[in-house]
Amino acid sequence: MLKTFSATSLLLAVTLMAHPQSAPASFDPAAKVFRLDGGGVSYVFGVNPRGELQQLYWGGRVGAADAFPAAAPLREWASFDNSYNNTPQEYAGWGAGLFAEPALKVSFADGNRDLVLHYQSHTATANGLNVVLKDVAREIYVTLHYAIDPESGILARSATIQNRESQPVTVEQAAAAAWSLPPAHYTLNYLTGRWAGEWTLTQEAIHPGARVIESRRGSTGHQANPWFAVTAGEPDEDHGEVWFGALGWSGSWRITVEQDQLDEVRVTGGFNPFDFGYVLHPGESLETPIFYGGYSPNGLGGASRLLHRFELEHILPRTASTAGQAFPKPRPVIYNSWEATEFHVSEAGQMALAEKAAALGIDRFVMDDGWFGQRKDDHAGLGDWYVNPEKFPHGLKPLIDKVHALGMDFGLWVEPEMVNPDSDLYRKHPDWVLNFPGRPRTEQRNQLVLNLARPDVHDYVLGFLDKLLNENDIAFLKWDYNRNWSEPGWDQLPAAEQKRVYVEFTRNLYAILAELRRRHPNVEIESCSGGGGRVDLGIMRYTDEVWPSDNTDPFDRLAMQDGFTYAYTPQIMMAWVTDSPHWFNKRTTSLAYRMLSSMQGSLGIGANIANWTPDEAATAKRLIAAYHQVQPTIVQGDLYRLISPRNGSEFSATQTVRPDKNQSVVFAFIHSTQEGRGFPRLKLKGLDPAAEYALSSIEGKPRAGTPAQASGAWWMSHGLDMDDDFRGDFQAAAFRLDRK
Ligand code: GLA
Repeated sequence: MLKTFSATSLLLAVTLMAHPQSAPASFDPAAKVFRLDGGGVSYVFGVNPRGELQQLYWGGRVGAADAFPAAAPLREWASFDNSYNNTPQEYAGWGAGLFAEPALKVSFADGNRDLVLHYQSHTATANGLNVVLKDVAREIYVTLHYAIDPESGILARSATIQNRESQPVTVEQAAAAAWSLPPAHYTLNYLTGRWAGEWTLTQEAIHPGARVIESRRGSTGHQANPWFAVTAGEPDEDHGEVWFGALGWSGSWRITVEQDQLDEVRVTGGFNPFDFGYVLHPGESLETPIFYGGYSPNGLGGASRLLHRFELEHILPRTASTAGQAFPKPRPVIYNSWEATEFHVSEAGQMALAEKAAALGIDRFVMDDGWFGQRKDDHAGLGDWYVNPEKFPHGLKPLIDKVHALGMDFGLWVEPEMVNPDSDLYRKHPDWVLNFPGRPRTEQRNQLVLNLARPDVHDYVLGFLDKLLNENDIAFLKWDYNRNWSEPGWDQLPAAEQKRVYVEFTRNLYAILAELRRRHPNVEIESCSGGGGRVDLGIMRYTDEVWPSDNTDPFDRLAMQDGFTYAYTPQIMMAWVTDSPHWFNKRTTSLAYRMLSSMQGSLGIGANIANWTPDEAATAKRLIAAYHQVQPTIVQGDLYRLISPRNGSEFSATQTVRPDKNQSVVFAFIHSTQEGRGFPRLKLKGLDPAAEYALSSIEGKPRAGTPAQASGAWWMSHGLDMDDDFRGDFQAAAFRLDRK
């Protein structure tokens, strides 16, 4: 039986109908239809006659006066599939013969596991709605949160599940949201990888059945990333409809993309139900992560431009000095000592590198692993966060003072959630790690994972980081996380409750990051996990940048950077120039090629600059200066992937355009010229057709055969030609276009 709508709902409907353009959410009480409008997007769902919340539409924005008919459940297909199973629900409980992926599955104390959620009430919020559902018989309440960004039309959806029964209830599966699409030919785009090989764009037709992308590892993972894009038909950079989404969660997660027997597609994502079980005592609630979702009619390029802008404006944190600004500030150009010195850091050695770095025009000097405890290699020291007295007999202050005197700020590597068994911390608190009593403790990189879900571990980690930041003038932390979970026990809790670790670990991680930022409002943080193992919209709320991969090979990076930008803004994509031949692929490339590859993102230098020739130092200095001039355009502009480096492409090219269209930057790369083939003419995008733009080379090579100035229309219609001598192996070129 459908519950009657409350007086507040009717009032809300009347208020919203009086200002249809200004309200992000509206409700039609006659048809019982909710509608969210933002940017070029409308999202619509209704209460069907059974009382279920049924998705009606997600796509291009429809007319303000367009009325959606009331939700009507899909029919029973046969005696095998009832209407509950076939109807696309906003948040389906597992019960009543549901065989599709449920949003929520619970077990009650008496053994009942049937859950059917019906609409109860709703309230308006500043930028959306809260809709309350309740089980048909039991006191389980689910509040669905909807917020829509008025500019991008990106929705933020999550759920709060509350137990008002008198007995505990175990949540066995909880999604943040389910998204539905009507029958059509679709392609799924998602990101896969491995350590040192992250960010592969994987594309496949959606077929009947389910494709599961997930992490069971306790953190986001290198192997799959919680982002998806579903394209109508074949994927295209510039054309066609795209529905995309990203989960804001850095623990175990799962996204299930399912085409059911009636060809409808449902994308359900949230906590990974594998080994999951969250006991809700009477009165307790569980809040899911947020699942963001957007729509673009302009291909995968259009989708990523919306997402980049949304991340810059609404996800990434601000420091005290950038509070209230539309975008965070572009990342300082860093020097990082890791590939130069590995664990062999010392006061004198780091000071010498700092001098070299300052001479190149570096903004931030970062000392990596090796400075603390008894850390000579990766066998010892993690957990003991005191400054190693042999390597730094006077503490960090002399080095930090030196770095400041050279005009740079100072950053430091930490790996707070980890411990080596060979450490004072582990000797004192062997019970602090994730473990099952009496079982082996599997080490990876000779380390174990501290159980951050424990309040004492939370306090220890927050305490030492706070002390480190209080005692030293540190502008930046590179926060690393170099293994995944094993034996994820939490033996402080009763057996039935130990699986809470999947939620509380990640929540405590966020809480520590948030509290550190509150106490040290100008500190910036990088999320690193042996490269790109912890990159998602959850961690991005608390960290300013990420380390996409330990693989810094400049050619491999082109494809990784291409893949990365489908989901994440180049602003957070740190990219270091390292030594050649490269340690991983043994590939030899010129410094200019390495520099230009890294300049596609947020530039850093990670080479052993002590060994650079004066010529190399001069090249790097010149290109860092050139980069500084155009950096906001590159990392915060609208990105067009002109030629993809994927699938063995001989060429690749990207272009970014400042939001005001006053400047654009173009990068072009050749893998290896074959049969003397010239570089394809690049038809630029996103410029103001009526404006005049002057073209200049960023790497300082005068280029013939292209006008020095032409209209936006010329660059977009005729295109940009490379020099005929732009041929060879691992060649790179970069241009800027400035509005006259
Ligand atoms: C990880 C990081 C590297 C470096 C090392 C230090 O692998 O990704 O950049 O910091 O740890 O041990």
